[in-house]
Amino acid sequence: AVFAVIVVAAGSGSRLGRGIPKAAVEVAGKTLLQWALEGVIAAGIASRVVVTVPAGDTVLRQVCERFGALAVEGGATRSESVTAALSVLNEAPLQTGFSESPATSVLVHDAARCFAPVSSFKNVAEALVAGEKAVIPVVPVVDTIKSVDVKQVVTGTPARSELRAVQTPQGFDLATLLDAYSDLSSLSPEEAETVTDDAMLIETLGMRVLTVAGHADAFKVTTPLDLVLAQALYEH
Ligand code: CTP
Ligand code: MG
Repeated sequence: AVFAVIVVAAGSGSRLGRGIPKAAVEVAGKTLLQWALEGVIAAGIASRVVVTVPAGDTVLRQVCERFGALAVEGGATRSESVTAALSVLNEAPLQTGFSESPATSVLVHDAARCFAPVSSFKNVAEALVAGEKAVIPVVPVVDTIKSVDVKQVVTGTPARSELRAVQTPQGFDLATLLDAYSDLSSLSPEEAETVTDDAMLIETLGMRVLTVAGHADAFKVTTPLDLVLAQALYEH
């Protein structure tokens, strides 16, 4: 398999509330995008890397250049950003030491999960090499999860043993992911907003999605509390 990696970093980081794009926020003197790209390179599987960046950004584009990654302007939603990256995948420069062959598989990774360990990349990539078409890293859920209706009244309690929290990188056979994304343009903006991961679209096609072991370190930097955790772990 020839792997390309998409890092989505075009979000605004509204819940973090720093007033700058989340991927440009620094921990221990490095932007979250730099942490994320170091993780991608350390995994040693990416022949090409594409990064979605916010409109008007210059900081993140400079980071991309240093890692030999192609920067592309993202869209209004995460799924639109992935679409933009998919359309330029094989235009990205080759990483040193990789073959020129076009990508056959793609890993889609959140810049916000910038501390995802090599094991997450490896577990996903190995399952793809073994023939899986869609693979996602997961961890057990610690909270009891309930569903509620529009009036905030509980409608059910799914068995926690059957639930998993989903992380990235998520890995796909490229043709399969392109197929899953092909009719995304038919969604309304409200529907597009509900596409919070890529595997959802594969599930919609009725296709099998395999879970493999993720890692606690692949938590998503979303709220100010997450940034405190990141600083506690990485600033000395
Ligand atoms: N993302 C993207 N394009 C968008 C929205 C999100 O590339 N239009 C990326 C983010 O940069 C992030 C990942 O998707 O790396 C996961 O999204 P999330 O954690 O929601 O980040 P933000 O959208 O930036 O944060 P918020 O929802 O709090 O504004
Ligand atoms: Mg978001």
